[in-house]
Amino acid sequence: MKLKSQINHVIKEAFIKAGIEQEPMSVSEASKPEFGDFQFNGAMALSKKLSKKPRDIASQILENLDLTGILSKAEIAGPGFINLWLNPLWLGKQCHDALHDDRLGIGLRETPIKVVVDYSGPNMAKQMHVGHLRSTIIGDTLANLLAFLGDEVIRQNHIGDWGTQFGMLIAYLEEMHEDGNVSLKDLEQFYKDAKARFDADTNFSNKAREYVVKIQSGDKHCLQLWKKFIDISLGHCEEVYEKLDVKLTRNDVRAESFYNDDLSQVISSLREQGMLQQSNGAQCVFLDGDEVPVIVQKGDGGYLYATTDLAALHYRAQELGAKRISYVVDARQAEHFKQVFRVAKEAGFVGEDVLLEHVAFGTMMDKGGKPFKTRDGGTVKLIDLLDEAIVKAKETINNKEEYTEEKIDEIAKVIGIGAVKYADLSINRESNYIFNWDKMLSFEGNTSLYMQYGYARIQSIFRKHNAQIQGDIFICDLVEHRLATMLLRFEDVLNRAAADASPNQITTYLYELVTLFMRFYEQNPILKPGVDEKTKMSRLQLSALTAKTIKQGLDILGIKVVDKL
Ligand code: ARG
Repeated sequence: MKLKSQINHVIKEAFIKAGIEQEPMSVSEASKPEFGDFQFNGAMALSKKLSKKPRDIASQILENLDLTGILSKAEIAGPGFINLWLNPLWLGKQCHDALHDDRLGIGLRETPIKVVVDYSGPNMAKQMHVGHLRSTIIGDTLANLLAFLGDEVIRQNHIGDWGTQFGMLIAYLEEMHEDGNVSLKDLEQFYKDAKARFDADTNFSNKAREYVVKIQSGDKHCLQLWKKFIDISLGHCEEVYEKLDVKLTRNDVRAESFYNDDLSQVISSLREQGMLQQSNGAQCVFLDGDEVPVIVQKGDGGYLYATTDLAALHYRAQELGAKRISYVVDARQAEHFKQVFRVAKEAGFVGEDVLLEHVAFGTMMDKGGKPFKTRDGGTVKLIDLLDEAIVKAKETINNKEEYTEEKIDEIAKVIGIGAVKYADLSINRESNYIFNWDKMLSFEGNTSLYMQYGYARIQSIFRKHNAQIQGDIFICDLVEHRLATMLLRFEDVLNRAAADASPNQITTYLYELVTLFMRFYEQNPILKPGVDEKTKMSRLQLSALTAKTIKQGLDILGIKVVDKL
C-alpha cells in the first residue's frame, strides 16, 4: 500500500473540485498524534501563486475534501496546515487485505530497472577487514531491498585480485612448498612473512618482480599459482559470507582481473576523444574544476584502480544494461568515485540516463572512538568477530534448559549475526560507527534482539490461540489506529529507503512499529477472558500483520527470526 500516494490522490481530487489548477505538494506524516495522521502543508506554497491567504486556500481545499473514504476528518491548523485523519473503517479493511496477501499488499515496481550493486570487494592479498564487513552488510541489504521491490538486481563482487603484490605472494607460496595443500589460515601473517622475505633477500625480491611480469604476460606456471592463491583467499571470504548469511556467491565475482583485456581500450577511447593529457609521464584526465587529475595509466604502462573502475562502469552500463549502479564502499573513496563517474559519463561509457551512486559509509570504531583493530594493532579477523558474536549471543538466551544443544546454537547464530548486522544498518551509514557488544546485544532499544523478541512474543500468542483467525479488523482506539497506520506505511518506507539507499530508514520504522505494538499489547488484551470474539479476532489479525511485517523487514535486512527466544 502506497499510503501517501493514496492520500495525495484524495487531495488532488479536492484541488480539481475546487478548480485549483496546481499540482498539490505531497502530504507528510504528522509530527504528533494530536495533529492527525498526516499533514498537508501545500497551502502556504500556493499563497503567492494564487494571491490568496494560505488559510483561505486551505478552507477551499477542505470544503472539497472527500471525508467518506480514506479520510474521516480534516482540520485547518496554524497558518494554513491541514491536519488529516485516516478513516478507521478504511484502515481496518486495508490491514485485513495486507494480512491476506503474500506480499503484504506491497506492489512490485511498475517499471523495474536493472541495478548493479557493487559490494564487499575484499582484496585477495590481505585479510578481509571491518570496512569490507560494513560494505557486505549494507550492500546485501540494498540488493535485497531493490529485488523485493521488483528491480532486477545484479550483485557484483569487485574483488582486488590484481597488482604487484601478487608476484611476491605467489613466489612465497611456491617457496613454502605449500602450494599442494596450503590453507593460508592467517593471510595477514602470510603477507607479513612474504614481505619480510622480500625485504631481506634480493634473490627473492627479484623473483617476485619477475613473477609479476610473468602473471601479466600469461605464464602458465605463475598463473596457476596465482589462481590457487585467489581461490584459497576467496574461500576465506566465503566462510565469512556464509556465516553472515549474505547472498554473494562465486557467480557474483567480477574481479579486477576480469577487466584486464578492456583496459587498453579504455585508454584508447579516452585518447580518441581528446580527454587524455600526459603529466609527469602518466596519462591523465583533467576534469573541469578538479585540481587532481584522474590517472589512468602510469609512465611504465601500468594501469590503476581508476582504470579498472572505468572498464567496470562500461561493462555494467553497456553489457549488463544497468540503469542504476550503486557502489557500497567506504566514504574515504568518495573522491575516487566522483571522478570516475564523471569521466565515465563524459566519455560516454555510461549513458546520461544511468544513475551512478556512491553509497558511502563511515569507519567502524571501537568503544574508545579509535578505528577498530586488534589489541596489537592488527586487522580483526572477521570470522573471529562473528564467532564471538555467536558466543555472546548464547549468553542472552534465557531458558536454555528448554532447548537441545543444537537448537541453542541455531538461536545463538540468529541472534548474534542479527545483532552485528542490525547495529551496522541502524545508524546513518555515513556516520562513523562505534562497535559495542553490550549495546548491540541488548533486548532494549533499537536492536535486532528487540525486534526478534517482538516477533517471538507475537508467535507466543499464536501458540496459545491455535485456531483460524477470521472476520474483520476493527480499529477501536488511538493505539490501534496508530498501529494500523504504521503497518500501512511499510511500502512507503521501503521505497524511500531504496531511493536513498538508506537501510536505517527501515530499522527506524521497525523500531517504531515494535514499540507501538508493545504498547498496544499492554493496553489491549487479546486472549484474556471477557474479550469478545470479534475484538479478539480483530486484535489477533493486527498482531499477525505486525509479525509478518517485522519478519519481512528483517528479511530484507538479512536477519532471521525465531518463534521462541
Ligand atoms: N577492493 C576495494 C577496497 O578494498 C573495494 C572495491 C570497491 N568496488 C569498486 N568497484 N571499486 O577498497
